[in-house]
Amino acid sequence: MLGKRFTIIGGSGGMGKVFGRFFKKHGFTITLFARNEDKLKKAAIELSVNYELSLEKSVKNADIVMISIPISSTPDMIRKIAPFLKENAIVFDITSLKYAVFKALTEIKNNFPVNCISLHPMFGPGIKDMKNYFMMVLKVGGTDQYDELINELLNLFKFDGLIITETLPEIHDKRIALTLGVPHMLSILFLNLLRSTNEPLNELTKYTGTTFLLQKVFAESIIQREMEMFGEIQMENKEFLKILDLFEKLLHKYKKIIEEKNITGFSEIFSQSLEYSKEDDYFENSYKYFYEFMNILKRENKK
Ligand SMILES: NC(=O)c1ccc[n+]([C@@H]2O[C@H](COP(=O)([O-])OP(=O)(O)OC[C@H]3O[C@@H](n4cnc5c(N)ncnc54)[C@H](OP(=O)(O)O)[C@@H]3O)[C@@H](O)[C@H]2O)c1
Repeated sequence: MLGKRFTIIGGSGGMGKVFGRFFKKHGFTITLFARNEDKLKKAAIELSVNYELSLEKSVKNADIVMISIPISSTPDMIRKIAPFLKENAIVFDITSLKYAVFKALTEIKNNFPVNCISLHPMFGPGIKDMKNYFMMVLKVGGTDQYDELINELLNLFKFDGLIITETLPEIHDKRIALTLGVPHMLSILFLNLLRSTNEPLNELTKYTGTTFLLQKVFAESIIQREMEMFGEIQMENKEFLKILDLFEKLLHKYKKIIEEKNITGFSEIFSQSLEYSKEDDYFENSYKYFYEFMNILKRENKK
């Protein structure tokens, strides 16, 4: 049976606190670990839980250890805590990239009697509850109690309405390059392109059509968040450079079409994009959603 002592490494961070609240609600005793004592103490007070400044002490009695620190530091942290963990403990990370983390978790489950799983919640620290959000799950393996303990853990999430999809590291990282890396990059470049024209954004906004307004809201919501994480999601994923190569070629082709006023070429790119979107189950609703978002923005503007 799943034990109730839960430790979060990176417990003072945004995601650490989301999971801290979740597990506390499910009756777990929470301990937070991080390096900066002031921030850690503040988080522990905010959540009414314990904190610990020694890494070894924070994990050695834990039944479940969650690692919620930057992507590039996670594999080393997994290897560092492994010798301190108790038998049958569960270890999981929540990083947005899986290749290196999965390798480290596989290494420790082969050398220590622990149970490893890798999770990727597809939401940020701003959520109110987990209902109807998605989470990617990569099962790594462990002791003879693995299936029982991991199922119990996953059932907690399912109970709160989280939608779980099982995947593998290579597939995960390739798709994440497209579903996180690309929209993040386009938002950063969108704002940077506007900036490079020296047009003040408030002036541009007066010339706003519906598409620009929504694009701007989306890009501005991205750019206000954690720069380091967005950088890591693109730089630490070797799949992302391949996407950039494709993008470069596509942009080059697009520029030529526009320069040459090649309406046939334009129509070809346009219809290819349309045909691809028609594969989407939600395609029919997109135009409706677009105007629903617009109505929300209009209401906000009236206030
Ligand atoms: N934010 C999101 O939208 C989101 C979504 C899905 C998944 N994730 C994943 O969640 C993880 C955490 O993200 P976050 O947004 O919560 O980050 P965050 O708010 O920056 O928090 C990071 C936490 O890790 C601690 N930390 C940083 N480096 C450390 C190290 N080397 N050793 C020990 N503790 C360290 C920090 O405290 P100290 O600096 O005081 O140690 C802090 O408690 C990342 O792996 C990210 O990929 C994030």
